[in-house]
Amino acid sequence: MTPGKAIRTKRRALGLPLAIGLALSAAPWSLSQSGAAAAEGAEAEAGPVPVEQPLPYSHQTHVALGLKCRDCHEIADPGFLAGYPAEVKCMACHSAVKTDSPHIRRLAKHHADGEPVPWNRVYRVPDYVWFSHASHVDDASVACETCHGPVAERQALFQEKPTTMAACMECHARNNAPNDCDLCHDPG
Ligand code: HEC
Ligand code: HEC
Ligand code: HEC
Ligand code: HEC
Ligand code: HEC
Repeated sequence: MTPGKAIRTKRRALGLPLAIGLALSAAPWSLSQSGAAAAEGAEAEAGPVPVEQPLPYSHQTHVALGLKCRDCHEIADPGFLAGYPAEVKCMACHSAVKTDSPHIRRLAKHHADGEPVPWNRVYRVPDYVWFSHASHVDDASVACETCHGPVAERQALFQEKPTTMAACMECHARNNAPNDCDLCHDPG
């Protein structure tokens, strides 16, 4: 029951030397740092700014209905992604619930056209980083909330937990998990 290593070979292998190359040529790095600092400053005053989404979907509303995280985020094989729910799952309720709402009409149109709602990503690590939801959630029994915060209490999501290399390595160290470079950066 440890698919981790086996499935890892299926992802595109972008080697660490290339990653370091990318890092050195990544001029926006300093920009994104000052951007993050500015965002933190703004947060202190006005609270965190949620990531804009095409529909005003609320985790608080839907989790309160009794829906479980994995009803919608299936972590389908090979298990890297948690995934977004297919619109057919939403329509199980919304073919009858709130059908007069313009947002639900838009959702129904996505469903009818077979075009997934283009949700904007809240959490993302660069392509040269190896990360698997299945390894953490299924194999290591790490709860969603540990890495994503109290999602069930949120009307709209924002990145409230860091996905930096330091944050990954700090938790690995605390849990006696390995921290070799090639654990998270495939040697290619
Ligand atoms: C178990 C039933 C159920 C499922 C499944 C469900 N919803 Fe809902 N949804 C509701 C209920 C109930 C409300 C609150 C309706 C109200 O405000 O009276 C709601 C409200 C909403 C609203 C706010 C609508 C408005 O204009 O106020 C949006 C947007 C929405 N849902 C999107 C979704 C999406 C996207 C999915 C699939 C990922 C989904 N829902 C799945 C029951 C459901
Ligand atoms: C009814 C379906 C549904 C349920 C239940 C649900 N989610 Fe979601 N989730 C969504 C949808 C739709 C989005 C995209 C919109 C958004 O970001 O709010 C999303 C987005 C997310 C994201 C952000 C992903 C990104 O873009 O980086 C996280 C994290 C997340 N959900 C975690 C959870 C957790 C934890 C639970 C259980 C407490 C949960 N979800 C329950 C439908 C659901
Ligand atoms: C060990 C930390 C960790 C745990 C535990 C975790 N996530 Fe994530 N999640 C991440 C990271 C890191 C990303 C960005 C991954 C990427 O860019 O490939 C992410 C991205 C996501 C996304 C958006 C992209 C995708 O993978 O589809 C969703 C949705 C999500 N997580 C939901 C969940 C849910 C639901 C759970 C619990 C069942 C969960 N996560 C558990 C760290 C975690
Ligand atoms: C909340 C704690 C926690 C966080 C945060 C975390 N991990 Fe882990 N990770 C673990 C544990 C525990 C294991 C299991 C170690 C073992 O094999 O016993 C693990 C295993 C792994 C593995 C080996 C399994 C596999 O999929 O091949 C990789 C790779 C990995 N983590 C990458 C990451 C990355 C990248 C991040 C940051 C984006 C991250 N982890 C954040 C706790 C964490
Ligand atoms: C537990 C997972 C993990 C381990 C172990 C790890 N890294 Fe990383 N590394 C990451 C993540 C996540 C990022 C992306 C950080 C971000 O998004 O800013 C990253 C980014 C990088 C970058 C890009 C430049 C930068 O700083 O953003 C380099 C270079 C790098 N790592 C080298 C290494 C080396 C060398 C080692 C061994 C000493 C190592 N990494 C071990 C997760 C890991």
